[in-house]
Amino acid sequence: MHDLENNIILIVDDNPTNLAVISEALIDAGLEIAVATSGENALKQSTYDPPDLILLDIQMSGIDGFVTCEKLKENPLTHDIPVIFMTALHDTADKVKGFNLGAVDYITKPFQQEEVIARVCLHLKMRNLTKKLEEQNIQLKQFTEELEQRVTQRTAELSESLNDLKQAQIQLVQSEKMSALGQLVAGIAHEINNPLSCISGNVDHIEEYFHDLLEHLQLCQQYCEHPEIETHAGKIDLEFLTEDIPKIIDSAKLGAKRIRDISNSLRTFSRADTTSKVLADIHEGIDSTLMILQHRLKANETRPAIKIIKQYGNFPLVKCYLGQLNQVFMNILANAIDTLDESSQGRSFADIERVPNIINIKTESLDNQSVIIKIKDNGKGISSEVKSQIFDYLFTTKSVGKGTGLGLSISRQIVVEKHGGFLSCESVLGEGTELAIAIPIT
Ligand SMILES: Nc1ncnc2c1ncn2[C@@H]1O[C@H](COP(=O)(O)OP(=O)(O)O)[C@@H](O)[C@H]1O
Ligand SMILES: [Mg+2]
Repeated sequence: MHDLENNIILIVDDNPTNLAVISEALIDAGLEIAVATSGENALKQSTYDPPDLILLDIQMSGIDGFVTCEKLKENPLTHDIPVIFMTALHDTADKVKGFNLGAVDYITKPFQQEEVIARVCLHLKMRNLTKKLEEQNIQLKQFTEELEQRVTQRTAELSESLNDLKQAQIQLVQSEKMSALGQLVAGIAHEINNPLSCISGNVDHIEEYFHDLLEHLQLCQQYCEHPEIETHAGKIDLEFLTEDIPKIIDSAKLGAKRIRDISNSLRTFSRADTTSKVLADIHEGIDSTLMILQHRLKANETRPAIKIIKQYGNFPLVKCYLGQLNQVFMNILANAIDTLDESSQGRSFADIERVPNIINIKTESLDNQSVIIKIKDNGKGISSEVKSQIFDYLFTTKSVGKGTGLGLSISRQIVVEKHGGFLSCESVLGEGTELAIAIPIT
């Protein structure tokens, strides 16, 4: 018949006859009812077990219908329950007052049974629909909130992946560049070796032949005295030549040795990294890096040479990617040279000679578990605000073209991610900076 079986209608009236008439009518229509014989009781019952609709008589002893309605509307528990007033037929003022107090409708006494049931059913249906709508609204709100949360979370995840991707791309480009450069350098070092061997081999021969010639010359001088030979010897300053040629040969040998050292360093530095770690000499790596940075370390027109103080500890070969570690040494040393160049500005040559620019390189092993490489400069130092960012990707305080902000972030990746080590920085503003690299030995 209708779907209002589970709805309860509270009838409030202090007149037992009225109560009986209307109760009967509603029960006959298949509706469930509760009754209250005073406003006070109605309030109590409604709070304890809220009905779905209230039929409220206006004139009652105790608190009347209007006051009861007012109180129902004030209480959040009963605020939404629809109230229908029961009034005398022609009492228009009462009807208006009822609506003003929040009633949804009125029915008039004496009751027209069918009309009463029609109105009650209509309001119950409206009440049920409103309730359903409210529930759906709440669900919708929850769903929207959840959705928003998920969108926010997903956006954060996506932007993180994007960042990772960007970093990976830069590193890829960087390592591609390094490996191309490495191959080029290794190739050049190899190509230099042949002509170099030719020069050093021939210098050795020249030295040997020169000794023979000198011996021969001395014999000639001893046994063939001839004025023309005397004159010629004076003209070419034979005495000076015989003294100077060995010096020239030594100097050429030294030059060749230096080229060989550089070429070896280039090969060590640019060593193509194997796919797995290999046992390597960390000190050889640092030395080759220093050799390559020689042109930046030596004196120039604004400052004397930077002093390198090495304090190498004694420890075994370390399993590592030496080519990559060399890149770390290079990045850190280049930063140290940058800061020393900067702090030298405005200082005189003599002043710098008195208090020289120094890079101190100290290595040691910690309980044979790991090696520590400390690279310390006496440059400008780093403020704590900058220090918190120096390992950040793309962070630089240098001008465009001079700094990329990649050096330390790549170094950290090589040390921490590739080697399971640590890279840390200590700095005192105005005194200098120390970068410490820790690499596990095994
Ligand atoms: N030895 C140092 N002394 C002072 N500042 C340094 C030193 N090493 C690094 N920094 C600071 O850290 C920043 C980041 O260094 P890095 O990642 O190598 O990038 P870049 O050298 O290209 O600026 C530098 O711009 C500089 O401000
Ligand atoms: Mg740098």
